[in-house]
Amino acid sequence: MKEVLAELERRREVAKAGGGQTRIDAQHKRGKLTARERISVFLDEGTFEEFDMFVEHRSTDFGMEKTKIAGDGVVTGWGTVNGRPVFVFAKDFTVFGGSLSEAQAEKVVKVQEMALKNRAPIIGLYDAGGARIQEGVAALGGYAEIFQRNVLASGVIPQISVIMGPCAGGDVYSPAMTDFIFMVRDTSYMFVTGPDVVKTVTNETVTAEQLGGASVHTTKSSIADGAYDNDVEALLQMRRLVDFLPLSNTSDLPEIDCRQPAAGDDLSLDTLVPDNANKPYDIRELILKTVDEADFFEIQPSFAKNIVTGFGRVEGRTVGIVANQPMVLAGVLDSDASRKAARFVRFCDCFSIPIVTFVDVPGFLPGTSQEYGGLIKHGAKLLFAYAEATVPKITIITRKAFGGAYDVMASKHLRGDLNYAWPSAQIAVMGAKGAVEIIYRKDINDPEKIAKHTKEYEDRFLSPFVAAERGYIDEVIMPHSTRRRVARGLRLLRNKELTNPWKKHDNIPL
Ligand code: HXC
Repeated sequence: MKEVLAELERRREVAKAGGGQTRIDAQHKRGKLTARERISVFLDEGTFEEFDMFVEHRSTDFGMEKTKIAGDGVVTGWGTVNGRPVFVFAKDFTVFGGSLSEAQAEKVVKVQEMALKNRAPIIGLYDAGGARIQEGVAALGGYAEIFQRNVLASGVIPQISVIMGPCAGGDVYSPAMTDFIFMVRDTSYMFVTGPDVVKTVTNETVTAEQLGGASVHTTKSSIADGAYDNDVEALLQMRRLVDFLPLSNTSDLPEIDCRQPAAGDDLSLDTLVPDNANKPYDIRELILKTVDEADFFEIQPSFAKNIVTGFGRVEGRTVGIVANQPMVLAGVLDSDASRKAARFVRFCDCFSIPIVTFVDVPGFLPGTSQEYGGLIKHGAKLLFAYAEATVPKITIITRKAFGGAYDVMASKHLRGDLNYAWPSAQIAVMGAKGAVEIIYRKDINDPEKIAKHTKEYEDRFLSPFVAAERGYIDEVIMPHSTRRRVARGLRLLRNKELTNPWKKHDNIPL
């Protein structure tokens, strides 16, 4: 018996050594942790239960039968994050560059299916070179099996991908179908084809960083939802994110002890909006003063900064926050902001996370570049997302809510449950200058008349009261009471019941 136990230990040690000490050292030299080290940072200490540690590939081409490494380039299993179950797989770059074989795909599919069956989130830690070249179509088939499970799990369990090394081919398409992608600065890259292929096909010379580094994907392509300086920081932030998320679309919202009472007033909010309507202010201040203990996990902080999206908690329960940011492009809605917020709203709706929307928006961004880029369709994504969402929706207009953007930003007409406005709100088709120049075009050369018309327009329309008179705004609230009102509203809406008509699925303008 003792010998059998010793043999198990020996086999385990071999598997844990992955591609060997030289490759592990190379991994460390690049500032990266190994797959197992990453898992141990991410999960609660001692909770990792590994599956399929002894799986090997079955390839016999190119002399592969002579190089078999237990585990075959991915470490899979489950554990807990702050006591809640999470499934995990981590590509082991030290084994064939983490590349995907048929056998490796079977391991990943197994945890995907277990996560789906047991309704717990799944996290993939990526550091891999795509399909295992020596296996050909068997590897391609393996990827498609994974993609299929990504799609089936979408909207049922949260799926998170963390890119922690060079990732190519299938190792970027699977993350692309998950809910969130995060990267590690300077050590991770994502591209369908690498710099060498780019050079051959298009004759462009680019570095891996220029082609698919964190700086590209968090600011230009919006593929990534955030980036961190190193592996440990990324993994600790993923623990924080998981804490905000329900385990599945049928689980309750996670609830933690809230140490900050929601009953108090924050008088500083009464002076947040400047007297001059064209002066910016930082909407983050309002967000941080609304959520518990100013704890806000921002999604896509470096992309389309004219809208802010992220998770917070109110009275210990998760909320999704969407807020126009007057500090950037006056908070205007453009294609990027619309896409960013639409995806976030849809995530919240999938997982029954209430949405709190702060509105200060001068409208949609005019211009050929926006129109040629499909602003109509991208703007419609956000409109569609808010309109189909059945989760509790609380909207607070702090200042401008002009034009179509008023409608889009979780207005009463899109089934907003509680629609509040601050006294500084201006709800109108457009600002005074534009409006007067159109309806009083004949007076355009008479500054006195224009000033009079402008004053009249401002007095009548640039307030919350026309909307409030029609019941489009449920109440005009004092800014200092915002957190209290949001908390009470969310409590009221906990038992909200609203369903959309049966359909196979909708047809959101993609
Ligand atoms: C087999 C691979 C591999 C692969 C890397 N390795 N990629 N083995 N199949 N796809 C192995 C290397 O042979 C090497 O083995 C080890 O992993 C480390 O690789 P290096 O090249 O030395 O590392 P590095 O310089 O850091 O470069 C990493 C890399 C590069 C950028 C990922 O290896 C690379 O470009 N790989 C190929 C990427 C690719 O084109 N993959 C196919 C995509 S197509 P040793 O033994 O020396 O340690 C695809 C199809 C699915 O994925 C598409 C679905 C839509």
